[in-house]
Amino acid sequence: MPSKFSSGPEKRTSPLVWFAAIICTILTLAVIIAGIVTFIGYLVIHPRVPFVSVVGASLDRLLIDYAGILEIQVTVVIRAHNGNENAHASFSESSYFLSLDGKNLAQLVAGPFEVSKNNSVDFNYVAVSKPIPLDPEEAEDVDLSIKNDRITFDLKGGTKARWRVGPLGSVRFSCNLNCQLHFHALNGTYIPSRCTSKAK
Ligand SMILES: *[C@@H]1O[C@H](CO)[C@@H](O)[C@H](O)[C@H]1NC(C)=O
Ligand SMILES: *[C@@H]1O[C@H](CO)[C@@H](O)[C@H](O)[C@H]1NC(C)=O
Repeated sequence: MPSKFSSGPEKRTSPLVWFAAIICTILTLAVIIAGIVTFIGYLVIHPRVPFVSVVGASLDRLLIDYAGILEIQVTVVIRAHNGNENAHASFSESSYFLSLDGKNLAQLVAGPFEVSKNNSVDFNYVAVSKPIPLDPEEAEDVDLSIKNDRITFDLKGGTKARWRVGPLGSVRFSCNLNCQLHFHALNGTYIPSRCTSKAK
């Protein structure tokens, strides 16, 4: 005796197909809702993510002798921002390299520190170079910078920031700087320019 299904009218949709269609609809809705929630979360959180920026600097010492030995001391003030109104931010592994024409001069490091809710902390990094022997061409470049009263260093590096979320979880961010610091070579005054890890 033929079964009810195989002999029934072609048009009847099997309950299994209905079931699959409903599941698919629910899944699709779930994906759309998750997308919207993520997008809103991004809009809410994005302007508040921790970032670092250079807010000041000074060239405290710039010496080059006749043998082409260079010595510098630079102070860089890096501000760590935490725009989150509900969580402290912990910053760690802060490390930046100061270089001149691709030659590393000094490393700026800081131990771990905390930035309270909706706050910022300024850190003075003092970079003192060891005496650095320059080849004649590099020494000439530095002399030229001094004559032109303008010297440019590269600052590269970053720090890791973390928000503690609840007792166990945390959200991590990495903040990277890659910019140029310009100074008047003669009096060591910093010429401000944009230097921040914040995405536009
Ligand atoms: C966070 O800081 C900004 C500016 O520093 C201030 O205008 C704002 O009211 C602060 N928000 C809270 C919740 O403290
Ligand atoms: C340093 O020198 C520059 C250019 O000569 C000048 O504009 C600037 O005001 C000077 N800064 C100080 C603190 O004297």
